[in-house]
Amino acid sequence: MKKDRFIVTIDGPAGSGKSTISKLIAERDGFLHIDTGALYRAIGYLTDGQPTKNDLNNIHFNIRINNKIEIFYNGENIEKFIRNEECGMLASNVAKIDYVRDFVNKTARKIASVGKYIIDGRDCGSVIFPYADLKIFLDADLKERAKRRAFEDKRSVEEIEKEIEKRDKQDKSRNIAPLMKPNDAVVIDTTNLTIEDVYSKIKEMIKERYEHKDS
Ligand code: C5P
Repeated sequence: MKKDRFIVTIDGPAGSGKSTISKLIAERDGFLHIDTGALYRAIGYLTDGQPTKNDLNNIHFNIRINNKIEIFYNGENIEKFIRNEECGMLASNVAKIDYVRDFVNKTARKIASVGKYIIDGRDCGSVIFPYADLKIFLDADLKERAKRRAFEDKRSVEEIEKEIEKRDKQDKSRNIAPLMKPNDAVVIDTTNLTIEDVYSKIKEMIKERYEHKDS
């Protein structure tokens, strides 16, 4: 049955609200959340930004699925180490390497077999799941995105603004799988929207696409 698998991708720049909304949809609507950025962050963190092909063979993520993937390394959940902006930049650096991208793409595709998935990142709709049932591209003004991150990281807006601007520029200008809006994605500008506004919009689109998907 085609409805055995339903995939929603959410791409967009840093701080546009991708992971917040993905978590909410996972919790409320029984989707499994695959945070591809977390995989790049983990690789950047574990290899200090310099992964060799061999390092990747030795990284065994223990991915536990409840409604999100959790990344364990040597038995430890590494979530608390990978969320800062320094690790974001390490992730962006390793994300330019072709074998790292292959590794992340294969990992995400392997996880998303049967079920409902919400997958967020930069190239989820353009490269990893070009046949996704619904593609969303979230965006917001740089200042607003920096404010959100500064609030989470407890740092100054100006400092974070510079960092995410640099990271977005690097993500947009790289040769492989740059951050871009897939042609068939629905764009939502979250600058002046609450999380609940964004949730309602996406939920409505999911309902519509799911009902019209061939069974
Ligand atoms: O989404 P998050 O900020 O956790 O992503 C960290 C970095 O990982 C991004 O800046 C980007 O360079 C990289 N990334 C990517 N492709 C994805 C997800 C993340 O290149 N699908």
